[in-house]
Amino acid sequence: MELIPKHIAMIMDGNGRWAKKRLLPRAVGHVKGAANVRSIVQACSDHGVEYLTLFAFSTENWRRPEDEVSTLMDLFIQYLDKEVSEMKDAGIRFRIIGDRSVFAPSLQERIARAEQETSHNSKLNLTIAANYGGQWDILNATRLWALANPTLPISSLEPSAISEYLSTCGLPDPDLLIRTGGESRLSNFLLWQMAYTELYFTDTYWPEFGSAELRGVIEWFGKRVRRFGKTDEQVLGEN
Ligand code: IPE
Ligand code: IPE
Ligand code: MG
Repeated sequence: MELIPKHIAMIMDGNGRWAKKRLLPRAVGHVKGAANVRSIVQACSDHGVEYLTLFAFSTENWRRPEDEVSTLMDLFIQYLDKEVSEMKDAGIRFRIIGDRSVFAPSLQERIARAEQETSHNSKLNLTIAANYGGQWDILNATRLWALANPTLPISSLEPSAISEYLSTCGLPDPDLLIRTGGESRLSNFLLWQMAYTELYFTDTYWPEFGSAELRGVIEWFGKRVRRFGKTDEQVLGEN
């Protein structure tokens, strides 16, 4: 039987270059990229993937030109408005990770509603990382732990406690990361959570990343030997 990753994380990169190659404005690349989210969510669900986490906007993406940032925010709002009712029917549980406190109150309300309305679903857990940074997440988790445990010495802080206060609490760590767009870096995505994630980098731009390529990546994942620090012999003995 094929080994399916339980949790796939994706860095959806290359929208701008996809547009540039076609002499189109970057915004068109983002529109195409947003449309592709829907088909990849469906494809993951069809494969039986239980958790899918997509990097939509990083804490560093605020450095982009103002009009591009506002295009990305508009697309995010449109996505919420359009997809939530379908997610409810498709058994998708929707979550947002990232610092949402900077979003407009109306957007924060939309997010909370989407999370609440899909909270009973369990077929696929779809998490969108928006205003997310791995460093922010780790720092925030540490601060939350300190606030919750004011009498404990810092030496009693354990890795499992950090995991508990990360924005991904309740989600397993990703088994597989796919980054489109040709760069081989993490760009401050799930730094703590990806300690043992299998990393796959493809040159394909995000708007062109389709279900056939996804199937190939899942097959590649199935051939990996995940040792978690152990030897081959130990790992084979466990199976
Ligand atoms: C990914 O595509 C979308 C976001 C980062 C929000 P890019 O916009 O980074 O596309 P490139 O890397 O410029 O091609
Ligand atoms: C990473 O892509 C962030 C998202 C896909 C949301 P970037 O395009 O921002 O990454 P860098 O700047 O090339 O590292
Ligand atoms: Mg990019």
